[in-house]
Amino acid sequence: MSSPDLDKFFQVALELTRKGGQLVRTAFDQPASIVLTKSSDTDLVTETDQAVEKLLIAGLGKAFPDHKFIGEESAAAGQKYTLTDAPTWIIDPIDGTTNFVHRIPLVAICVGLTINKEPVVGIVYNPITNECFSAIKGRGAFKNGFPIHVSSTEALNKSVICTSLGIHNVVGVGPAWLDRALENHKKTVIAGVRGHRAFGSAAINMVYVAQGSIDAYIEYGLHSWDIAAAVVICREAGATLLDPTGAAFDLMSRKVLVAGTEKLAREISGVFTHTDFEREGEEK
Ligand code: IPD
Ligand code: CA
Ligand code: CA
Ligand code: CA
Repeated sequence: MSSPDLDKFFQVALELTRKGGQLVRTAFDQPASIVLTKSSDTDLVTETDQAVEKLLIAGLGKAFPDHKFIGEESAAAGQKYTLTDAPTWIIDPIDGTTNFVHRIPLVAICVGLTINKEPVVGIVYNPITNECFSAIKGRGAFKNGFPIHVSSTEALNKSVICTSLGIHNVVGVGPAWLDRALENHKKTVIAGVRGHRAFGSAAINMVYVAQGSIDAYIEYGLHSWDIAAAVVICREAGATLLDPTGAAFDLMSRKVLVAGTEKLAREISGVFTHTDFEREGEEK
């Protein structure tokens, strides 16, 4: 795929993402317009999530008719997906829906493009704070047009890390999963990290690593749409991405460890317990 193609894909996606941002901002500013359409207590979706995904898929589908799509709300509506080598847009219309519903301004529209299963274009846009993180493979990572870079922190005791318990992900996986998640959290406290944060959006956790505010982030139970766009941004900002066990990172594995330095990533991987974090019977 040539570079001008990637530019074109990026520009079209950016324009549509900004349009989606207007929908999110309008709903956020008028709380009454945040309408829940389906929910369990921990798995929320609003009409805005669905409208943004529709807008993105319609616009990208029109511009690039041979491209494929994986979108959170299309998957929730029962659409099956598999990642293939074809150009594939991986979309999370609102990452941080719980924040959105509670009007916490940490939400992100995530649009990633994979080619040959590799993320090559990524946009993570928070329309409430007007922060637009973006990257094209090989061209660096940017926030609102300015280059960003990861931190150089190597020591756990100098790190601020995100280790979401993913309470959302705990439902349906049973007490053993929760015990291990809590145990892992405790281990990082004992190891003496400088601070823990949990922003309620995988993509925001990741772009904060990309811009060097957070030194590392680890989470289990994620989906490709939570992280695909942010993966490109993190890599282009110099981050190390691993499977939490220390193996190679796999976009479809439902887990991620990302850090500003490889040394810190390995340190965190060594502190954590990694067994049995998978939810039985779920597609990957
Ligand atoms: C969720 C957020 C959250 C993470 C969950 C995700 P959503 O995405 O990224 O931080 O812990 O695993 O499902 O549902 O708000 O798009
Ligand atoms: Ca969701
Ligand atoms: Ca998400
Ligand atoms: Ca979402």
